[in-house]
Amino acid sequence: MVYRLLGENGPRVSVIGYGGWALGEEGWPDVESLLALRSLEEAFDRGITLYDTAPFYGRGLSEERIGTVLSSVRKQIVIATKCGIQWDDSRIWLSLSRDDILREVEDSLRRLKTDYIDLYQVHWYDQKTPLLEVSKTLQELKRQGVIRHIGVCNFSVGLLAKAVKWMDVVSVQTEYNLVNRKAEEEILPFCQKASIGFLAYSPLAQGFLAGRAFDPQSYVKDVRKHHPLYKTGQWRQITGGKEEAFRFLLRAEGVTAFLVSMTRPSHVRENVEIVEAFFSS
Ligand SMILES: NC(=O)c1ccc[n+]([C@@H]2O[C@H](COP(=O)([O-])OP(=O)(O)OC[C@H]3O[C@@H](n4cnc5c(N)ncnc54)[C@H](OP(=O)(O)O)[C@@H]3O)[C@@H](O)[C@H]2O)c1
Repeated sequence: MVYRLLGENGPRVSVIGYGGWALGEEGWPDVESLLALRSLEEAFDRGITLYDTAPFYGRGLSEERIGTVLSSVRKQIVIATKCGIQWDDSRIWLSLSRDDILREVEDSLRRLKTDYIDLYQVHWYDQKTPLLEVSKTLQELKRQGVIRHIGVCNFSVGLLAKAVKWMDVVSVQTEYNLVNRKAEEEILPFCQKASIGFLAYSPLAQGFLAGRAFDPQSYVKDVRKHHPLYKTGQWRQITGGKEEAFRFLLRAEGVTAFLVSMTRPSHVRENVEIVEAFFSS
């Protein structure tokens, strides 16, 4: 496995990270729980040290699973979780108020069975809490040692430019893959110039780039029914496969690591083998 520093001052992470969204099962109807848990063990055994999750993934389930399976190797891994998405029985909303962040971080620590979070990321900006207030809350958590590093996800370059003035942002997380290269326009060059780490999410465009065949009938509860490739029917024309999708990101300048949802041990093995073959050739 190859490891890289996340930004100038961030942790050292494996170039392929374990994406914990599907691990939470909600919105991913094909996931088999036992295989998903084994995929976490497989990921650690294969040298993956970066585990990305969020309270919202399975409404706590993804974090709980990472806490349960990986607590014995806690010091050897980098846990990246997030704040900002709130929910109750009837709705989902965004909030980055101080009270909400302080409550969320406590909930995440409990579920993850840890007393610190390596990388704490704003999941989505809520467009209402002043960014300065959000920054103060996160900096305070960092000073207390509750979180080690701060990251942001889904930020425009304008928002990021403000954020870096007020808080120690080590990384940005954005969708970036062979069929969505928008990050190349502004955010990726900004990160490179400012020495900020870049985590590419949805490297397989939620499975479509791996040539996965989908049954539209099973899509009622599946997050992938919202994907542009699915909505336009273009997923049927995809060729190239996961090898090409990963090699594209491994070659891309400025990309520190990419995060893949892997809920089967066989997928972990296949994906790590592609990464290792890339670096040994
Ligand atoms: N910050 C954010 O707002 C944000 C948003 C989206 C994602 N993310 C992060 O990025 C991670 C990955 O993104 P994602 O889940 O959207 O998309 P993704 O990783 O591009 O795609 C996941 C899909 O790829 C399939 N897959 C994985 N390895 C495979 C293999 N070897 N062969 C065939 N298929 C394979 C999985 O199949 P199966 O279904 O068969 O297991 C799953 O359907 C998430 O887990 C999360 O950590 C963050």
